[in-house]
Amino acid sequence: MARTLITSAIPYINGIKHLGNLIGSQLPADLYARYRRARGDEVMFICATDEHGTPAELAAAKAGKPVAEYCAEMWQVQKDLADGFRLSFDHFGRSSSPQNHRLTQHFAGRLDAAGLIEERASRQVYSVADNRFLPDRYVEGTCPNCGYDRARGDQCENCTKQLDPTDLIDPRSAISGSTDLEVRETKHLYLLQSRLRDRLDAWIDGQEGWPVLTTSIAKKWLHDGDGLQDRGITRDLEWGVPVRKGDQPWPGMEGKVFYVWFDAPIEYIAATNEWADATGGDWRRWWRTDEGADDVRYVQFMGKDNVPFHTLSFPATLLGSGEPWKTVDYLKSFNYLNYDGGQFSTSQGRGVFMDQALEILPADYWRWWLLSHVPETSDTEFTWTAFQTDVNKDLADVLGNFVSRVTKFCRSKFGEVVPEGGSTGDAGVILVRRLSEGLARYEAHMDAIEIRKAAAELRAMWVAGNEYLQEAGPWTVFKTDPETAAAQVRLALNLIRFYAIVSAPFIPDASARMLASMRAGEADWPTDVAAALEALPPGHAFEVPEVLFAKITDEEREDWATRFSGTRT
Ligand code: MF3
Ligand code: ZN
Repeated sequence: MARTLITSAIPYINGIKHLGNLIGSQLPADLYARYRRARGDEVMFICATDEHGTPAELAAAKAGKPVAEYCAEMWQVQKDLADGFRLSFDHFGRSSSPQNHRLTQHFAGRLDAAGLIEERASRQVYSVADNRFLPDRYVEGTCPNCGYDRARGDQCENCTKQLDPTDLIDPRSAISGSTDLEVRETKHLYLLQSRLRDRLDAWIDGQEGWPVLTTSIAKKWLHDGDGLQDRGITRDLEWGVPVRKGDQPWPGMEGKVFYVWFDAPIEYIAATNEWADATGGDWRRWWRTDEGADDVRYVQFMGKDNVPFHTLSFPATLLGSGEPWKTVDYLKSFNYLNYDGGQFSTSQGRGVFMDQALEILPADYWRWWLLSHVPETSDTEFTWTAFQTDVNKDLADVLGNFVSRVTKFCRSKFGEVVPEGGSTGDAGVILVRRLSEGLARYEAHMDAIEIRKAAAELRAMWVAGNEYLQEAGPWTVFKTDPETAAAQVRLALNLIRFYAIVSAPFIPDASARMLASMRAGEADWPTDVAAALEALPPGHAFEVPEVLFAKITDEEREDWATRFSGTRT
């Protein structure tokens, strides 16, 4: 049995994610996981929350909670929302787990033993009142260039000048506002990535068929040098993985933690450990090439901003360890989804957030629209008008209407059973051919993770059924030739089952309802369309389902557009 390991970039713990985050990795990863399972693969689909770093600490402080408590609560919130969107993770882990602490410390120990870690001293702003070193962007003050009085230590927002925290006039802590700041010396560990350049270069060259967006970003960072600067992997923070060498203390590093970007990708492996600890499963056969992971195909999903970390930093950790870890086979990356003439923004609360989306419509509406408009080749935009038009057309008019017309017509003329007798003649043969070709193209696009093209093929298969029904016209045929009408309806009822199976990766809830109403027991992926369209035999009982997709009204659209135009409160 083919085995597929799928990871989605792990969302930051601070705050509920917006739809741009969702379509930027978790949702497409789920589509692919569902598809691979339907095709018979053994799948391990992993996600988690990314819990360390200053933003988590500050969000907790703002919420007035200890950071561990804040993270535990937000993990549950994100987990529930993931369930609400039907994200079918095999495990949704936490980067703050003991498993990740252990593994992160293990990797650091291995990298150190391989001579790839060096200690370097640097001078950094220390806030006496806050009792901590301040990251550059948490030092605020007056810009020496333009006089703007809320410039940050890394950059002035007003004149865009790049700054050092020590350039600022009248510097203060962005955390407490305190001006009691000192420059102190501190030591940090650096990962000597530059020494791994040739190995990484060869590793990237060895990858076949990666998307251009992925390799161009990787190569750019590799050769422009920037991405392969030696990288500081520790921070003076309290919340994080304590710096240790495996299970040994690291002299001189007491009180420091690993940098969040060092431990976050390691959580992919650690989350599989968490899964194994919870289920008694074996994580090694997914991650260790000496223990079976050689047979695994590993696919990662992420937004384009995450690509350098996954093509350079994380592979540097894995390759540098000198141990046989599984590395990514295919990396699928995405552009950004914009919101109604601007950007989605977590800090400004702009756009639709996952909790709000589920309050107004079921998951399938969002899944279908987002996946069929996923920003694969360029940034794309969510607008309420496009959302209303597409959802009403594709889901309500085409798919939903087909299901309701066929089942209701059958009930009125033949009862709630698949009718017998007759033949659909040439029209039936032509439809089967059209769908066989369509299914082959759909599978090819799904295999290649060309999501928009796959959605278009799926939609075309729905349309083909509608056109067949329209042309066959069992409503009229029934009056003169009930046998033929029976065969047409039988074919159409089987089409509902067929659609349910092939659409399930996109719209799992509607698919489940379609299968339930058809009382279709096994629902294996169709290998032969003609056979699949005879799966429900004459005499098989079904039920007319409730309306699958209600149309979005103009009133609702206007209401939502207004409600989500401003800032989330
Ligand atoms: N939390 C990061 C983001 O949302 C993604 C981390 S992915 C990982 O951009 F690989 F580092 F875990
Ligand atoms: Zn300035």
